[in-house]
Amino acid sequence: MLIELKGVKKDYPLGRTVVHAIRGVDLEISEGDFTVIAGPSGSGKTTLLNLMGLLDHPTEGKLFFEGRDVSRISDRDATFIRRSRIGFIFQTFNLIPVLTAIENVELPLLLKRMKGKERRKRAEEALAAVGLGDKLYHKPDELSGGERQRVAIARAIAGMPDIILADEPTANLDSETGLSIIKLMKEMNREQGVTFVFSTHDARIIEVARRKIELLDGKVGSDVVQNSNS
Ligand SMILES: Nc1ncnc2c1ncn2[C@@H]1O[C@H](COP(=O)(O)OP(=O)(O)OP(=O)(O)O)[C@@H](O)[C@H]1O
Ligand SMILES: [Mg+2]
Repeated sequence: MLIELKGVKKDYPLGRTVVHAIRGVDLEISEGDFTVIAGPSGSGKTTLLNLMGLLDHPTEGKLFFEGRDVSRISDRDATFIRRSRIGFIFQTFNLIPVLTAIENVELPLLLKRMKGKERRKRAEEALAAVGLGDKLYHKPDELSGGERQRVAIARAIAGMPDIILADEPTANLDSETGLSIIKLMKEMNREQGVTFVFSTHDARIIEVARRKIELLDGKVGSDVVQNSNS
């Protein structure tokens, strides 16, 4: 099992009150999964992905990464696992404004101490794969919203992670670009065995996912395998 959640809850303090964002979730993500997390705005999709990506700790319950209990992992150890294994596509992109597209994509490879030549080649390939081969030297504010989103996708795939967690990866894309991104992800899933967990409102992504988990008010409302052979 790649990721396992057992009785996970996540509270956010908010002024004098508490927001119960995740209210008791049990889930298993296997290697090779192509899973979508659907659910209305505020149902906890981003919170759940942040927990799976070791960006945050559960308030209660246990979280396992490859059988290791990471519920209370240190930031340092979490960073190490993330860098070597996990690609994260953020809902808000998290690109570095002063770096060009290719520098943004190269950054995690640099942090992994990959050599300059190979780093540049990988970053170029990843940007070409998302259709940005001609925008390598644009900075984020010189790109459209959809192009920024594609840089964030390129950054996640360039490191060849075992698992990619993607928070609404096609939210800012026109339908044609969105579909080509989904196709690329399906290919990576099929050919390289990369595990994908997405959140989305996008019916086209929901449709092609092998498994659909529906979050409702911080809980799993349904969890179904809909395309067992794809
Ligand atoms: N840092 C925070 N502090 C307080 N409350 C938060 C925080 N982050 C999220 N929340 C609350 O937790 C709940 C779940 O938020 P989350 O961002 O996980 O939802 P979501 O399903 O990703 O929504 P969307 O589809 O709009 O992105 C919401 O009620 C939200 O207001
Ligand atoms: Mg969200």
